[in-house]
Amino acid sequence: MASLEPFKNVHLLNQSNQLLGLYTIIRDKNTKRPDFIFYADRIIRLLVEEGLNHLPVMPTTVETHTMQKFEGVSFLGKICGVSIIRAGESMEQGLRDCCRSVRIGKILIQRDEETALPKLFYEKLPQDIADRYVFLLDPMLATGGSAIMATEVLIKRGVKPERISFLNLICCEEGIEAYRARFPDIRIITGAIDKGLDENKYLVPGLGDFGDRYYCI
Ligand code: URA
Repeated sequence: MASLEPFKNVHLLNQSNQLLGLYTIIRDKNTKRPDFIFYADRIIRLLVEEGLNHLPVMPTTVETHTMQKFEGVSFLGKICGVSIIRAGESMEQGLRDCCRSVRIGKILIQRDEETALPKLFYEKLPQDIADRYVFLLDPMLATGGSAIMATEVLIKRGVKPERISFLNLICCEEGIEAYRARFPDIRIITGAIDKGLDENKYLVPGLGDFGDRYYCI
């Protein structure tokens, strides 16, 4: 998968019919919660696998049961996930399914009622996060406000931008531009780039409120 021009560092999942079918289900307003969860989880798994594809490996040779040598690779470095509460937590299991015993941190950002700007309320991150490759988890990249603030927290904790991958299910050009203007070297891994945002800053066509659909209705 190539990075998308003009969106350098944006990696869009292969737009296969399989993937389109999954998005058709989760975007459908008539899809019930159990199906929404099942099919969103399938997309999340694909995003995690794609994220893992970008991490460094080193050549490794093993001997097989047929006494032959197999020249492969082994993974280098430690990983952790950081979810933006609440919707990002939906992506944690997909990461755990692919990386056994992976460490997971959390960041809570909410709108400050007085200023209407995003505000950091809570962070809990692995002590050694600066030594890890970080998968930032948030399913919807709309304006980019929360993701930018969460990424600033990671950078302050010493994580190098090139070690961060931001995984989301749907984004739009406005969100990508806002995020990339601040963090040009961070990889964005996504499954869909939507037309834009509506007056309430929801992605369109989008799927509505991801957290509500995954956790509530
Ligand atoms: N968050 C959501 O859940 N949905 C959107 O469309 C935008 C942000």
